[in-house]
Amino acid sequence: MAALTVLAGMVVVAHLTQASPMPVEQRHPMITPAPTLDLPTRTLIEQRGVLDDLKSDVDSVFSKLGSAVPSYVASVQQLTNGKGVPNFFQDFPTKDKVQSSLGVDDKQLAALPTQVLNLPPYGNWSRGSWNVRFHGNVYKQPPTDQKTIDDLANKFLVDVNIDQLPPDEQANARNMTASIFVVQQEDQNVTMHLEPAPSAGSDGEKGGGGATTASGGEQSVNLPYLTTDQGDFDVFVPIQLNGLMRGDTNTSVQRLNVYANGTNTGNATAYLVPPTGLSIISDIDDILRVTKIYKPKDGLLNSFAKPFTPWMNMPDIYAKWARQYPTMHFHYLTTTPEQVTRNYMDFIYKTYPGGSFDTRPLNFSDVSATLSIRKFLLEKFFQTFPQRKIVLVGDTSNSDIMRDYPGLVKDFPGQVQCILLRNTSATDPDDLFPYDTSGFKGLDQKLFMFFRTPDDLTNIDLQNGNCYNSSVPQNITFSRQAELLGIHGSGADRIGKGWLISLLVSALTASILLL
Ligand SMILES: *[C@@H]1O[C@H](CO)[C@@H](O)[C@H](O)[C@H]1NC(C)=O
Ligand SMILES: *[C@@H]1O[C@H](CO)[C@@H](O)[C@H](O)[C@H]1NC(C)=O
Ligand SMILES: *[C@@H]1O[C@H](CO)[C@@H](O)[C@H](O)[C@H]1NC(C)=O
Ligand SMILES: *[C@@H]1O[C@H](CO)[C@@H](O)[C@H](O)[C@H]1NC(C)=O
Ligand SMILES: *[C@@H]1O[C@H](CO)[C@@H](O)[C@H](O)[C@H]1NC(C)=O
Ligand SMILES: *[C@@H]1O[C@H](CO)[C@@H](O)[C@H](O)[C@H]1NC(C)=O
Ligand SMILES: *[C@@H]1O[C@H](CO)[C@@H](O)[C@H](O)[C@H]1NC(C)=O
Ligand SMILES: *[C@@H]1O[C@H](CO)[C@@H](O)[C@H](O)[C@H]1NC(C)=O
Ligand SMILES: *[C@@H]1O[C@H](CO)[C@@H](O)[C@H](O)[C@H]1NC(C)=O
Ligand SMILES: *[C@@H]1O[C@H](CO)[C@@H](O)[C@H](O)[C@H]1NC(C)=O
Repeated sequence: MAALTVLAGMVVVAHLTQASPMPVEQRHPMITPAPTLDLPTRTLIEQRGVLDDLKSDVDSVFSKLGSAVPSYVASVQQLTNGKGVPNFFQDFPTKDKVQSSLGVDDKQLAALPTQVLNLPPYGNWSRGSWNVRFHGNVYKQPPTDQKTIDDLANKFLVDVNIDQLPPDEQANARNMTASIFVVQQEDQNVTMHLEPAPSAGSDGEKGGGGATTASGGEQSVNLPYLTTDQGDFDVFVPIQLNGLMRGDTNTSVQRLNVYANGTNTGNATAYLVPPTGLSIISDIDDILRVTKIYKPKDGLLNSFAKPFTPWMNMPDIYAKWARQYPTMHFHYLTTTPEQVTRNYMDFIYKTYPGGSFDTRPLNFSDVSATLSIRKFLLEKFFQTFPQRKIVLVGDTSNSDIMRDYPGLVKDFPGQVQCILLRNTSATDPDDLFPYDTSGFKGLDQKLFMFFRTPDDLTNIDLQNGNCYNSSVPQNITFSRQAELLGIHGSGADRIGKGWLISLLVSALTASILLL
């Protein structure tokens, strides 16, 4: 599953942010015109209005219930803007709101150290040099007293107060909440320092290999644009070789350490990825870790308080792949908002092979952009590595995955090597979400598999694109399915009303919480 996105997502929330002049990745530094989002900035009061609308929509769904599943599905679609399921973690506070909720003035802010979230970048070999995509966020962390942070944390927890959690979970909840209440820094001039990554093989990548340590590459790189209004940077910059292996002579992925100058909060590893070979793009929630985002209450607790837990023996499968395919590149792509992803990276690097990272940048926080972020990030990757073969991994509880993964097979012919989707409801009866398999119509079964447990993946042949394990039944209707609700082909009108109501109520609860 993708970042915390679920039906719960029925959060039909307002947009607090407006688009701003944005550097777009360019090979050569140049100022590009600002894309503007034609969306109104809304106030909290207006959000209440949205909530009322949501309630009345849900009421009307309830009143229409009867036996008509299609109208239920249609209503859910309406609630979610007609496009699927938006994100749980929507509507995080922006600069002014953070300052006012924490009571921090500009002078206090000025005195605080600047921090950098430096997302582990990938780079391609382009016109004779490595071209590295630096992306992340510059922000300040305002001081907060525990009571304030606890009050804020309680907004993210359902039916439980932070006081009732064990101490380690309290600490996590405070950490996550503090990460959300940061003040983004615009117009910052960012410099990165690159050098060989001596330690990455041992303590850096407990989950497996996936790259070799670069033999050189030391240099400083000044990013060609200042940060956006929301503190983000995202730009491809060609770097000097300075002893690095060229990309056209060796198929190994090279790993470099990247430090953001002026802070020790912006350390990351960059992955220099040759033009040909195998890459995995993997989602994280409910595929690499247990999130249960389809049960909003558990999803929030698992995301805000509980320690991250791997999903079954998935780490063994990834470690096996890293050993079996030593030149394979791992890319972790979650649509969880970047502010809360330090814990994701921390978990991944302790549990899975090292790799580059993508998360949801801040300018993708409004409803319509949220629905397109995955496609945007996937396409950027596919365009950056047009000759690599790409294995896509995710799960069925995520509507954008169900749409975008098979869509890439058509949009980038020959680039998708495999689509591996965990059938979440096969092992978790709590996942009642309808999922849409229509995108898979006409695809060769060799290319994809809906699997039940990591064991189903044990011996599949990624190298040759034999992605289907014939002992795993594929029960695909090429339409909407939710077998646990009785939605499967002509069985579609056997839906249980009680389940449906509980589903809607939990979705509504989750949406209210975040308003
Ligand atoms: C966000 O910024 C990127 C550039 O970093 C741009 O390409 C994208 O279109 C922007 N998204 C939205 C929704 O404005
Ligand atoms: C939260 O935890 C992460 C990972 O341990 C750490 O890097 C980060 O600095 C913490 N953030 C806050 C705001 O305490
Ligand atoms: C950042 O600072 C450097 C050094 O002062 C300067 O050369 C460069 O032009 C600045 N970059 C931007 C985008 O303003
Ligand atoms: C590529 O580089 C790796 C690591 O330096 C080395 O082990 C391998 O032999 C090289 N392969 C070729 C074909 O040069
Ligand atoms: C960035 O930091 C490195 C050391 O970490 C230093 O060598 C380099 O000169 C710094 N660059 C700038 C532009 O400050
Ligand atoms: C980042 O790297 C620097 C230089 O190696 C180190 O001093 C610092 O402790 C690191 N920061 C973190 C948070 O690991
Ligand atoms: C490298 O990536 C950039 C950015 O996506 C892309 O424009 C360029 O075509 C890529 N280079 C090659 C050789 O594929
Ligand atoms: C997913 O698992 C459920 C529960 O076992 C099953 O009913 C459904 O048909 C499976 N879906 C696919 C696509 O195989
Ligand atoms: C197919 O799945 C079964 C059961 O999960 C597993 O034992 C077997 O190794 C898998 N075969 C392949 C080719 O992956
Ligand atoms: C496919 O799913 C339907 C509905 O859940 C079920 O009745 C049927 O037995 C399943 N078929 C297979 C082959 O799993």
